[in-house]
Amino acid sequence: MPKVKISALGCYVPPGVLTNKDLERMVDTNSEWIVERTGICERHIAAPEMATSDMGTEAARVALAARGITGAELDAILVCTVTPDMLFPSTACLVQDRLGAHRAWGFDLIAACSSFLYGLTTGAALIAAGTHRKVLIIGADTMSRIIDYTDRGTCILFGDGAGAMLLEPAGESDAGAGFIDFIGEIDGSGGDFLKMPAGGSRLPASAETVEKRLHFVHQQGQQVFKYAVKKMYEMCSEVLERNGLKPSDVGVMIPHQANRRIITGACERMGLKPEQVVINIDRYGNTTSATLPLATRDVIEQGRLKKGDLVMFAAVGAGYTAGASLWRWAY
Ligand code: COA
Repeated sequence: MPKVKISALGCYVPPGVLTNKDLERMVDTNSEWIVERTGICERHIAAPEMATSDMGTEAARVALAARGITGAELDAILVCTVTPDMLFPSTACLVQDRLGAHRAWGFDLIAACSSFLYGLTTGAALIAAGTHRKVLIIGADTMSRIIDYTDRGTCILFGDGAGAMLLEPAGESDAGAGFIDFIGEIDGSGGDFLKMPAGGSRLPASAETVEKRLHFVHQQGQQVFKYAVKKMYEMCSEVLERNGLKPSDVGVMIPHQANRRIITGACERMGLKPEQVVINIDRYGNTTSATLPLATRDVIEQGRLKKGDLVMFAAVGAGYTAGASLWRWAY
């Protein structure tokens, strides 16, 4: 089976910024509390006319340009998102059309904050099967459209953004770089702790669902927090252990960015040093499906990620969903 590598990356964040000070004028909160409890200073918010497919297309274009290819060369496009432009057609179809990716098939993948991690794994399986040579994984979310900006427990956390990674078969020149392993777990018994209750077949949109604000994210923050720290630690420890690796072997740990304290709690328990861990939640907040590519871009720009480094991606999200994957960086 061919080995799979990440061969290019592209990101897009909308220019509009919502700072903690801005939020102080919207809800009963203060910047010090937000920074201390979450690590977030600001987040980017899409302009009203911009939707998830627009940000996803921008990120995809950057990734394709970085690799020097066009959309016409893609075999498949997976869009990881909880905020599709609409339920159907899929956002993957909308992006495919704009990229001129006339050979590609694709679909949307919904796993909340674990979406991009699951997308990477699914895309890697398509390449490993030998049936696909270029698969584009896009993580894009316009969280500001499903956040209740009167609820101080959630509105401080989320931001908008997009990222894309291109997956291709690794060759001999890649010297063993590429996908190593993935471990995932879902636990639907935690579904009530973090959800957008209405808008699906259970509670279709009605005047009542709108009035009760059921089209927004609802969460029990402390429950989610505790699960996230425990599960991120467990997933990462297990994937390392079953590959005979130690935390000290990790070049860069790229975790989902939901709360700085979730990341540091899980990573300290694992014995990872702060310099191994990427945290950029201060500038973007939780962009749901876009956090992993955005954090990867930052670590590359900081010169902290080099060819051959062991990379561990990890995520936990609504569902519950969780997972961790190991890669050797290929470029
Ligand atoms: N500003 C000021 N005070 C706030 C606040 C805000 N934005 N949000 C909550 N508070 C208050 C609470 O009302 C509570 O007040 P009380 O003690 O008078 O009742 C107090 O702060 C503590 O609330 P608590 O919920 O215990 O805070 P916390 O330390 O757990 O932080 C979260 C709240 C939401 C930041 C935290 O639970 C969290 O990040 N959870 C995970 C959420 C998440 O990651 N979701 C996405 C998953 S991928």
